[in-house]
Amino acid sequence: MKPEKPSQQGVRSDLADIVGTHFRSEWQRPIGAHSAAAFEAVRDRVEASAAPLIIDSCCGTGDSTRYLAATFVDALVLGVDKSAHRLARHRDGDAQNYIMLRADVNDFWRLAVDAGWRPARHYLLYPNPYPKAAQIRKRWYASPAFPTLIKLGGVLTVRTNWALYADEFACALAVANCNANRRILVNEPPISAFETKYQERGHDLFEVVSDLNDRRKAPQ
Ligand SMILES: C[S@@+](CC[C@H](N)C(=O)[O-])C[C@H]1O[C@@H](n2cnc3c(N)ncnc32)[C@H](O)[C@@H]1O
Repeated sequence: MKPEKPSQQGVRSDLADIVGTHFRSEWQRPIGAHSAAAFEAVRDRVEASAAPLIIDSCCGTGDSTRYLAATFVDALVLGVDKSAHRLARHRDGDAQNYIMLRADVNDFWRLAVDAGWRPARHYLLYPNPYPKAAQIRKRWYASPAFPTLIKLGGVLTVRTNWALYADEFACALAVANCNANRRILVNEPPISAFETKYQERGHDLFEVVSDLNDRRKAPQ
C-alpha cells in the first residue's frame, strides 16, 4: 500500500546537482539559541561517557530511543526532536542509558560535528517526507543539512513508508560517495510510533543503511 498522496513520481533528475551544490557551499544559517542551550545541557554527560553514542534524530515520542537503549545496552542513546509536544508524550522505559533532548537537528548536527562527536550509529526514522516535488530541499538528503549529517558519521539507518524517499536518499548517499543498502522491512516488530502506525495501515516500509565512516572521498 502507498502512503497518502505523494505528488512526486520519480527520482528528480536534478537531485545530484542539488546535493552537490550543498557540498560545495558553506551553510550560513545561524545556530538557534535554544538548540545550543540544549546541546550544552547534555554535552558533559555525552563527553564523559565511554559508551558508544547512538543518535536517534527526529525521534518524535522517543519509542525508538527507548527501544535502541534497551537493544544496545552498552551504548548511550540520545533522542533528539524539535517538538515539545511529541517529546512530552514519551513514555519512560527501564533503561537508564538514554536521554531525550529538544533541539532542531539542523543545529544539533552542526554542534555535534564541531564538538567532534562521532556516533557509532545514527537513526532517522520516518522523517517528514515533504512529498511535493517543489519541497525537495526540505527532505534531509536534499537539504543544506545533508553534508553535516554525512560528516557526523556512524552507521546511518533511515526508514520511510515512501519508496521514492528511500530511492532518493540512496542516490544522495551515492553523490556523497557513501555506500547504501536498501531493503523492504518484512514482518518486523515496529520500533517507533510512526512505524507502528504505518504497519497498522498496511504500508510498505523501506530502510536505507549506510556506513558513513566508509566514505570514499568528498564529492567535487
Ligand atoms: C513523522 S515524525 C517521526 C517520529 C519518529 N521518528 C517515529 O518514527 O515515530 C517526524 C519527526 O521529525 C521531527 N522533526 C522534523 N524536523 C525536525 C528538526 N529540524 N529537528 C528536530 N526534529 C524534527 C518532528 O517534530 C517529528 O517528531
